[in-house]
Amino acid sequence: MTTQPGIFALGTPEHCYLELDLEPGRTAEDLVRGVAGLVGPFSTTGGVNLVVGFRPELWAEVAPDDAPADAASFAEDLRGAGAYRMPATQHDAWVWVAGGDRTAVFDNTRSVLAALAGVARVAGEITGWLYKHDRDLTGFIDGTENPSLLTAPGIAAVPAGRPGAGASIVLYQIWQHDTATWESLGQHGQEMMMGRTKDDSLELPEDVMLPSAHVARNTLEVDGEELKIFRRNVAYGGVTDHGTAYVAFAQDRWRLHEMLRRMAGATDGIRDGLTGFLTPLTGAYYTCPTVEALARCAPPDED
Ligand code: HEM
Repeated sequence: MTTQPGIFALGTPEHCYLELDLEPGRTAEDLVRGVAGLVGPFSTTGGVNLVVGFRPELWAEVAPDDAPADAASFAEDLRGAGAYRMPATQHDAWVWVAGGDRTAVFDNTRSVLAALAGVARVAGEITGWLYKHDRDLTGFIDGTENPSLLTAPGIAAVPAGRPGAGASIVLYQIWQHDTATWESLGQHGQEMMMGRTKDDSLELPEDVMLPSAHVARNTLEVDGEELKIFRRNVAYGGVTDHGTAYVAFAQDRWRLHEMLRRMAGATDGIRDGLTGFLTPLTGAYYTCPTVEALARCAPPDED
């Protein structure tokens, strides 16, 4: 079973993310067939990587044998400590086009929409870009503790022998940054919020690390084992309105949602320091099926 390769394709500076909803009267099968039948962006001449995902229940309706066991929509707002809230804004499908130049990403994303005309309509569009190569818009290096490409497939994909083996579950969230307030903290204050140093991304020593620090909140251990995820975040937006397109893949939904619950303070009342400066505007989960499962749903080849 082959996990969609674009999930692991590093090094692309330009990104576009679409969230789509079914047009009235069209079926889950129409949508899956339409997406699986995309030609240009899946071809070598398209010059981009394409990753696609579906609302977990929609995918399970079309391909029940290829559905990960715990995959489920972001159906309800996540409530945390105080009045804190992460909104649920689930849609029917998710398309991520990534490439080496903006023209290729623009043209291929337009061709995706043209191919799906009448089947699905756009609910949200985000253009992503890289800030200082590997930093997010907090100014910190993002991805230091990410698994390497040798271990990422074992973390991002459902293990062999389980329902939906090879598929991946993605959490897609748009986080708006209040950069001016974040900057007013100064470097030391920011490092305390993040739990790492800003210049070289060293983890703060245990006796200095706050329980509310972002990396402390997101170090998730169950029975002594650390549950990891594979993050592919990028920056989005312009100078007056910007933030992080948070894109994280995992073999189960539980660990992703548990990290969010920990960030929100829903588990122990301790909220992630970042949540005072960064606001989640959207939240959705999608099942990214294997290449083989998608190919089975594709319309017959016309050649
Ligand atoms: C706008 C939102 C976010 C920003 C700017 C951000 C940024 C960062 C940065 C700079 C690091 C430290 C370096 C690294 O290991 O990559 C980090 C670590 C991490 N973040 Fe986030 N993050 C965000 C949201 C989230 C969310 C929503 C989750 C979970 C659902 C998450 C999970 C993690 C994990 C698992 C780590 C690694 C922790 C460790 O093992 O040390 N992050 N993040």
